[in-house]
Amino acid sequence: MKTVMVTGCSSGFGLEIARHFLDRDWRVVATMRTPREDVLPRSDRLRLLALDVTDAESIRRAVEAAGPIDVLVNNAGIGMLNALEGTPMETVREIFETNTLGTIAMTQAVLPQLRRRRSGVVVNVTSSVTLRSLPLLSVYTASKAAVNAFTESLALELQPFDVRMRLVLPGRAPETRFGDNARTRMPDGFPEAYADLAQRVFAEWAQSSAVTRSLDVAEAVWRAATDPSCPIRLAAGADAVALAGS
Ligand SMILES: NC(=O)c1ccc[n+]([C@@H]2O[C@H](COP(=O)([O-])OP(=O)(O)OC[C@H]3O[C@@H](n4cnc5c(N)ncnc54)[C@H](OP(=O)(O)O)[C@@H]3O)[C@@H](O)[C@H]2O)c1
Repeated sequence: MKTVMVTGCSSGFGLEIARHFLDRDWRVVATMRTPREDVLPRSDRLRLLALDVTDAESIRRAVEAAGPIDVLVNNAGIGMLNALEGTPMETVREIFETNTLGTIAMTQAVLPQLRRRRSGVVVNVTSSVTLRSLPLLSVYTASKAAVNAFTESLALELQPFDVRMRLVLPGRAPETRFGDNARTRMPDGFPEAYADLAQRVFAEWAQSSAVTRSLDVAEAVWRAATDPSCPIRLAAGADAVALAGS
């Protein structure tokens, strides 16, 4: 029986990914900053562990407690939508600490066991905004584009050890807590000079019917984890798939 460790399982994609693997008879190590018993079905194949991907000691403890794993899914991430002028450097660092450095640190922590066993997969969840740039997302896009580059270089480095690196690029998913979480990082709203631009961006989003569902992401992560022939980049969701093909 194989084991997957997933970061950011308290809601959204991470929760759906954990459910998807549980339904397919995998052992699941579902990690959350604050573990909650009530979000996933009870199962003797499920372990809940506390993990904050920005905290080195928390990573060390969680990886040690998880034991041998076959697949790591770096899903934990935070959003940010604002003009660069309205984004304090403290917030920029927060985004990179979680989205970029958190992913790198988790990968580094599990790599020794995968390399020694000469098998395993690391799936990094980035975003379709790295396929087509959008305004007001410069910092977030940069944090995810760095993960794309990291993943694709590391994939070559790990080829001799039969460890696979994969990217899942979801589109916009209004159903998760991502938007609400992102809004807490912009208490002062958009700078006045960017207010019109922000309105245009929101109006465009309101018109687009193609969106990404959590299930699309779970299915893409499942394929990335289990199908050795799948491409290194996998778009997830109708909007992301359309972008990737255009
Ligand atoms: N929703 C979208 O439109 C969209 C589109 C493309 C890509 N993505 C990416 O998809 C991933 C999942 O997003 P989502 O839409 O499912 O959002 P979500 O519902 O906000 O879930 C994000 C998860 O990440 C966790 N998290 C945040 N900071 C963390 C940290 N320092 N350590 C550990 N966990 C942390 C959150 O846990 P807490 O409960 O502790 O905060 C939560 O479980 C993210 O990487 C995001 O960038 C989202």
